[in-house]
Amino acid sequence: MTTKKRVLSGMRPTGAAHLGHLLGAFENWEAMQDEYDTFYCIVDWHALTTDYADTSQLKANTHELALDFLAVGLDPERSTLFVQSHVPQHAELHLLLSMVVPLPWLERVPTYKEQMNQLREKDLTTYGFLGYPLLQSADILIYRADTVPVGVDQAPHVELTREIARRFNNFYGPVLPEPEVKLTSTPKLPGTDGRKMSKSYRNTIGLAEDEASIRKKLKTMVTDPARKLRTDPGDPAICPVFDLHKVFSTQETRDWAADGCRTAGIGCIECKSALADALVPRLEPIRARREAFEKRPDDVRDIFREGGRKAREVAESTMVDVRAAIKLPTEDDL
Ligand code: TRP
Ligand code: SF4
Repeated sequence: MTTKKRVLSGMRPTGAAHLGHLLGAFENWEAMQDEYDTFYCIVDWHALTTDYADTSQLKANTHELALDFLAVGLDPERSTLFVQSHVPQHAELHLLLSMVVPLPWLERVPTYKEQMNQLREKDLTTYGFLGYPLLQSADILIYRADTVPVGVDQAPHVELTREIARRFNNFYGPVLPEPEVKLTSTPKLPGTDGRKMSKSYRNTIGLAEDEASIRKKLKTMVTDPARKLRTDPGDPAICPVFDLHKVFSTQETRDWAADGCRTAGIGCIECKSALADALVPRLEPIRARREAFEKRPDDVRDIFREGGRKAREVAESTMVDVRAAIKLPTEDDL
């Protein structure tokens, strides 16, 4: 029996993971593995809440994300790695919580109206989409997680989870502990076009990319638009390449780039090449580990099969308490 505090977090399988996932989630998840009893979940049901009309990529995306989990150093010896839909207990708890949650609690979740507006091409007037933060609550509560590492945009979902746990416990007794949010840092991370790095903008640098591809993408990355000629001084403060230097380069390189930019002492090509020099070695171990796991598909399957088995065991033990607290009739009660 471990006395470590438990962590649960999840990620949607939406396609190739990129630098945003690495900084915003994976590096934090990886670093928590020694101190916490970590559960990391590929939330395929969550992907359905927005992409129910086209499920053609779901299997492939889930497989890719499984490889990404392992590539970034999530370690099956220390973490339980699994797929949400392999643990049907999440759905059972979601159903039971749906009896308890007042509709206005879901309607006021900020991501609800935001995403509805952003994803106009999809019909999100569904029950599943409104309820997805509650499904997330079930993901968390079913493992009685102490800590949930998420970006700031997800904090309201953890707050909802706490409120639901409180309401549940008021009705049925203390069964579901309230989790704490642990905000993961979300540094400004522009994509190659200068907008926020995002799959939907097609401006990402992927975790599986090799050196040639990384260097090529950086070469065409947007810079300070005022710096048209090599002899024009530039302003690093408004250059997206420099934002990446801030995240990936050493202080020394950053100072060299900022100074060289302002004085036109260096050109953008040099500046970007120095950024690549920092980025490539950071991604290389990830790419190499991914490639190694791609050659061992049976091992990947076994890892997630075993993770699913362990997750089901923990989830079922919570559900035994939940069903009893609600006084659902067991077979023995008939
Ligand atoms: N909703 C989260 C997102 O879109 C993913 C997620 C699902 C999650 N279940 C979770 C995150 C449980 C933390 C804990 O990013
Ligand atoms: Fe941006 Fe570097 Fe060019 Fe300056 S030198 S504009 S920081 S890419």
